[in-house]
Amino acid sequence: MIHNFNAGPSILPKEVFLQASEAILNFNNSGLSILEIGHRTPLFEDVMSEARGLVKELMRLDDEHEVLFLHGGATTQFMQVPMNLLNENEVAAYTETGTWAVKAIKEAKLFGHVEIVGSSKETNYTSMPANMIVPPTAAYLHITSNETIAGTQWHQLPYDCAVPLVADMSSDILSRVLDFNKFDLIYAGAQKNMGAAGVNLVVINKNILGKVERSIPTILDYRNHIKEASMLNTPPVFAVYVAMLTLRWLKEQGGVAAIEKINNEKAELLYTTLEKIPFIILPVAKENRSKMNVVFTMNDEQLEKDFLQACKDNSMYGVKGHRSVGGFRISLYNALQMDSLQAMVSLINDFAQKQG
Ligand SMILES: Cc1ncc(COP(=O)(O)O)c(C=O)c1O
Repeated sequence: MIHNFNAGPSILPKEVFLQASEAILNFNNSGLSILEIGHRTPLFEDVMSEARGLVKELMRLDDEHEVLFLHGGATTQFMQVPMNLLNENEVAAYTETGTWAVKAIKEAKLFGHVEIVGSSKETNYTSMPANMIVPPTAAYLHITSNETIAGTQWHQLPYDCAVPLVADMSSDILSRVLDFNKFDLIYAGAQKNMGAAGVNLVVINKNILGKVERSIPTILDYRNHIKEASMLNTPPVFAVYVAMLTLRWLKEQGGVAAIEKINNEKAELLYTTLEKIPFIILPVAKENRSKMNVVFTMNDEQLEKDFLQACKDNSMYGVKGHRSVGGFRISLYNALQMDSLQAMVSLINDFAQKQG
């Protein structure tokens, strides 16, 4: 059995793979593949409508919040957000917490001014900023709720900020209960907790739109997507279908609160295991550790090589740290079963014991 700890694209529920593969051959007993039906047929319209409805239900969104499935990955949102929300002469507040936040900041600067209101650059992104002061005139505050590479996560969300709150939730979307209505815009590439690569979830409070002066290209204006029920042009139909199946699966598990409980147990088990091993270094401040991406290094290069080999020998897949930080990264997304984590924990303990 392969244990998949990939950071993204990553593990999805087995049931989702089975249903998605059936739909490629014969979608809903139509005799047609999901890949060959028109996106404006009732067959696909039902998929889009169910997917949007499930997001509303699982996140308990109010009527002001709209759900969109868009092309372009989270990277497109780095520029689409400021294009829709930030005037050229205005300031947007950003937190600088790692690779992904830095990329978002770079794009925002193309559209207006950016004020960094909290940075963990000095700790090499091994913590999250505290005591932020957000200017009340800022167009919005942007956070990256989970930094996939650094292995950090916001556990105290800045709900009380006086300006619209925007979050890149690509790597912890639907993994924990948050007050999602307190966010004015949430975006997430689907390929970690929500489905296959190729589609982006955007949840948006429609009241924050229409306030910028620039002309926005049709396809990049959120208002057009809302008006067309997320069918402005041909959506990435298969990726939306896989997201819909994953959302259905999450609902069957008991929803976000139920999966959060399991995610907490998984993170607790892995961190406590790692903490006990003297040659393992956990670089992230304890209070900012990610429950999705657990990063660590070892105090000896040879040990790291040996552990990587042990992972390969035991079919543990996707554990190598991002090339920019090295070491290891074990991702614990929603679909990762406790059995896989227990196998990893046994491997770590056996490996540690062998070192004497
Ligand atoms: C937190 C975060 N934001 C943004 C991205 C970029 O996503 P995409 O490749 O879908 O553009 C990633 C990708 O891993 C990510 O982890």
